Amino acid sequence: MGRVRAFGYLVATVKDIEAWKVFAADVHGMQIVEHTEDRLKLRLDERAWRIDLHRGEVEHIDAVGWEVRGPEDIEALEKALIDHGYSTRRASAEEAAYRQVTDYLAFTDPDGHGIEVYYGQHRESTPFVSPTGARFVTEGMGIGHVMFAVSESAPFRELYMDILGLGLSDFIDIGPDPGTFLHCNPRHHSVAFAHRPGFGPRLGHLMVQVDNLDTVGRAYDRILEGAAPLGATLGKHTNDEMISYYVKTPSGWEMEYGYGGLEIDEDTWVPGRWNAAHFWGHQRVG
Ligand SMILES: [Fe+2]
Repeated sequence: MGRVRAFGYLVATVKDIEAWKVFAADVHGMQIVEHTEDRLKLRLDERAWRIDLHRGEVEHIDAVGWEVRGPEDIEALEKALIDHGYSTRRASAEEAAYRQVTDYLAFTDPDGHGIEVYYGQHRESTPFVSPTGARFVTEGMGIGHVMFAVSESAPFRELYMDILGLGLSDFIDIGPDPGTFLHCNPRHHSVAFAHRPGFGPRLGHLMVQVDNLDTVGRAYDRILEGAAPLGATLGKHTNDEMISYYVKTPSGWEMEYGYGGLEIDEDTWVPGRWNAAHFWGHQRVG
């Protein structure tokens, strides 16, 4: 049976491409691959791209991309999805070429977010060059993690654990419904979700990780100077030990910008259950 190996890309429809250019490249150090009034495509590492934003009137998550090792995994996951009642669609050759992957499978999650399972993403022979000197931690672990505020946790546990094959990292009791944190490589979690009355369903945040605390601190200074609205102050998470801050993206959902996330050994990891999400900091702002 196939399973996903990394959260590898994000495609979204956004209203304000120019604000995103400042936010993603100038403040947070992502490299611009393509920038027009209708599109902003970004690199974080040797891959041809990791984040692809298209201008549109309605903000939407078009694709959370999950990487697999090859066509056998795509076929196995397609069968498992169909067996669990999902409608799936295989990309045409033109669509795969547009995504710069070899092949992908598309479906929507129970809350309507686009999900893609892909393999063979294009790599660039030219080096990644950050406008701020940031180096993103992606090797063998994808671009980071996504956290969703979901309408109900059970169907998401089925999707990510039973079908896509992620393992349980831990729970955090952050409300009546515990947050569920799942891994598919050494990164402590690649996806998390929780049902919180009054929130969502929607993408809560995208986390990207850099290799130096000073890179986080310099970007934090820019946020405090007004570059973008802070969501939560600098703090340290309990479960993945990430030192990070949260900032509102131009799309309303947040980005977590962090350093020092825990890497786990999938074979020996034993899930726990935390009573809080933070050791210190992460005070909500606004
Ligand atoms: Fe996070």
